[in-house]
Amino acid sequence: MMMLVFLQVLGDSNLFITLMNYAVITIIFYFLLKKYHSLLLNKKLMLLSTIYCFIVLTRTMTLVKNNLTEQILEMAIFSIVTLITLLLVVLLIENLNHQIQLQRELRRSEKMNVISQLAASVAHEVRNPLTTVNGFLQLIIRDDNITEKQRNYIDITLSELNRAQSIINDYLSLAKPNNSSTQLINISEELAKTVELMTSYTNIQNIEVETSIEKLLFINGNKDEIKQVLINIIKNAIEAIGNDGMLMIEAFSKENNITVKITDNGPGMTKEQLSKIGTPFYSTKDKGTGVGLTICFQIIEQLKGSIEVESAIGKGTTFIIKLPRYQPPSTI
Ligand SMILES: Nc1ncnc2c1ncn2[C@@H]1O[C@H](COP(=O)(O)OP(=O)(O)O)[C@@H](O)[C@H]1O
Ligand SMILES: [Mg+2]
Repeated sequence: MMMLVFLQVLGDSNLFITLMNYAVITIIFYFLLKKYHSLLLNKKLMLLSTIYCFIVLTRTMTLVKNNLTEQILEMAIFSIVTLITLLLVVLLIENLNHQIQLQRELRRSEKMNVISQLAASVAHEVRNPLTTVNGFLQLIIRDDNITEKQRNYIDITLSELNRAQSIINDYLSLAKPNNSSTQLINISEELAKTVELMTSYTNIQNIEVETSIEKLLFINGNKDEIKQVLINIIKNAIEAIGNDGMLMIEAFSKENNITVKITDNGPGMTKEQLSKIGTPFYSTKDKGTGVGLTICFQIIEQLKGSIEVESAIGKGTTFIIKLPRYQPPSTI
């Protein structure tokens, strides 16, 4: 913009070329935007400087071509000032983004602490009476004197009780202190087992499951926790699809990471929904707890991994779990 004003002041005749330049840069930037965001700060600055130098170069060439060499010095000074301003602005924005992210993380961990304590106390208190009720119902159902109808009612009560217990177990995992021991895990095996475990759901709901799992992918972690993450995410995908659909499960090793990708062709999520997932108690389901993904994020974070989610409305959702590959302790 400043450049355009500057050119106007100079009475530039090549405004069109400049505009074209900016248009091309804008289009390139539009397509590179996603990649640009994933770059490190120094790479971003390098890229911007290179593109800017390219603009300056074309301007210089135009000036030389039009025999306006006396303007080159002016333009050079102006360009340097603009470049410095541009880089400073980028630095400022990056700094601000970083601050916002830190604040968000702090708020999240504060919230998690409160929730963990609350969940621990409530879940413990409720679990004991539920176990007692479950025990007595088991005794009653074995009694020969009850009618078939009564047996039916007790069956329903037991299954609802089981549901309540599994919800409470979810909350208890939320409250578990983060000091579980880690071991060597063959994630290929765990993933295959989990998929097998889920076939009862996928068969009933007519969901086709495709797998592409590399063999012998090892990570460091806690087996139960990893399984819980896989089950939670796959179950969410199955619940999202409903009836008739496709579930794709991939696992591979790349650089020092093991990547697990779980893709469904369900309804997908809006940007707003995407920003909320993992927040404790956020659920769009009637019978959802909104705890599943919170636990997943917590477990993966603890293992120094990451979960990325890509989703498009009407197309589906992909969960990408990245975990550091198992590094055998160096033997000297
Ligand atoms: N694969 C998916 N497709 C669409 N929405 C999803 C998917 N996975 C999770 N979600 C959304 O994230 C919310 C939170 O998930 P979760 O923490 O597991 O809680 P719950 O399953 O109990 O609702 C879900 O209610 C749903 O709206
Ligand atoms: Mg869930």
